[in-house]
Amino acid sequence: MEDRFDGKVTRTAPGEAPMQDRPPQEEPARQYYFIEKCRQHVLEESRRLGHPLTASVVTFGCQMNARDSEKLSGILERAGYALTDSEEADFVIYNTCTVRDNANQRVYGRLGFVHSMKKKNPHKRVALCGCMMQEPSVIEKIKTSYRFVNLIFGTHNIFKFAELLCAMYENDRMVIDIWKDTDQIVEELPVSRKYPFKSGINIMFGCDNFCSYCIVPYVRGRERSRRPEDILREIRTLAAQGVVEIMLLGQNVNSYGRHLERPISFAQLLREAEQIDGIERIRFMTSHPKDLSDELIEVMASSDKICRHLHLPLQSGSTRILQAMNRRYTKEQYLALAEKIRSRIPDISLTTDIIVGFPGETEADVEETIDVVRKVRFDNAFTFLYSRRTGTPAATMEDQVPREDAQAGFDRLLSCVQETAREQVARLSGQTQAALVEEVNDRDPSLLTGRLSNNIIVHFPGSPSLIGRIVNVELLENRGFYFVGRMAP
Ligand code: SAH
Ligand code: SF4
Ligand code: F3S
Repeated sequence: MEDRFDGKVTRTAPGEAPMQDRPPQEEPARQYYFIEKCRQHVLEESRRLGHPLTASVVTFGCQMNARDSEKLSGILERAGYALTDSEEADFVIYNTCTVRDNANQRVYGRLGFVHSMKKKNPHKRVALCGCMMQEPSVIEKIKTSYRFVNLIFGTHNIFKFAELLCAMYENDRMVIDIWKDTDQIVEELPVSRKYPFKSGINIMFGCDNFCSYCIVPYVRGRERSRRPEDILREIRTLAAQGVVEIMLLGQNVNSYGRHLERPISFAQLLREAEQIDGIERIRFMTSHPKDLSDELIEVMASSDKICRHLHLPLQSGSTRILQAMNRRYTKEQYLALAEKIRSRIPDISLTTDIIVGFPGETEADVEETIDVVRKVRFDNAFTFLYSRRTGTPAATMEDQVPREDAQAGFDRLLSCVQETAREQVARLSGQTQAALVEEVNDRDPSLLTGRLSNNIIVHFPGSPSLIGRIVNVELLENRGFYFVGRMAP
């Protein structure tokens, strides 16, 4: 484990400061100590500048990245910042993603933009964190080309944010603190949720699967599960705060609990979570097909709370490519699994992720993928062009596919995906289904936007006072991937 500050850091040496000014060693008490210290810095600076300090957290990645942003926001709020969506804020933190190169490019784009703002507003502070910061080449690039950045940290020490924020205030130089890995999980830190009525919950961190194209195991570290009692306590607290929908988060939730002192399966955890009063809907992300158990299918089938949606990344329909990807299932195994799920839970919506252009992939392989899309009839699929990630086994494979070839396969796949998704969504026309009202429609404020159990969106007229409630909606008009409806009498 590496724990370093590049800048000069004021640390209280033993015997130097009065007892009460020494940070506690244990967590989370240590972070609460630093939150208080940050409050003083924030207060002083806002007095000096003559306005309350604002902070903005910008999320680039997946649901886990978004959940981390809520934790960062929680600390910032406690430290006395007013949160805002505007990057004009006094403090901006970019929570980065590096799963595909376009995610990295977006971050560099934002940095260029924020630099121009900082030139006009020299007291503005900028921080970077998240998956991209776990790559040494990125840190080098920022140190040479983006020297105005004040604070950089990675994914493993995010729980130390308050401490790092303090270090930033007490240093003129860039503060960098990157850990290579950790098995530490710190509970009970503040969180500021984006929605009052729904919440993500980390059930595990990291990934041990090492799919050959994927950078996540390198930037998120080894798989570790939170203890069920901590997860259930968090869910009970959320329910007491009015949360009705939860989403359990992990890179591979189906392997949850394996390495705990007292092992427990994901299906067992779901059974326990279901018992909690006030929680009406339970979702989870992501399921790896190789670990999806019959027990899980049974728990889903017999549950009123677990949503009728399963995101089951396929990645490729070609067994040869799946093997090279280290996915550890074949085309036939995936098809059999999807069939089993659909026959046991007929109203389920199945969605997936697919990569096109993996090294060595031919037109025939893409046809195999299209064949799976036709057979499984995905309700939706996220399709990605393969992105070469330095450090992964696939990056050094021969036969990297030229961009134009990959794009042609991608386009063919996409039109097939859109066709099946449209047909799948159309089968719901005329039904009445329960929808959780999430927000006022951003294009037409007379409409509300709700989400069905199967994750499909419906827009319908209604009062904003219904936000956070579950209401019955008639699905009148199919607009391709969503519905327009009206509230059922
Ligand atoms: N843990 C999840 C996925 C996390 S990454 C799972 O296993 O399903 C989300 C998606 O990004 C993946 O499902 C994959 O389709 C895509 N992805 C990951 N690495 C990629 C790469 N190098 N190029 C293109 N897409 C990639
Ligand atoms: Fe990446 Fe595979 Fe882990 Fe998902 S399961 S995060 S695709 S290595
Ligand atoms: Fe991106 Fe990290 Fe999530 S690389 S997809 S933010 S785990």
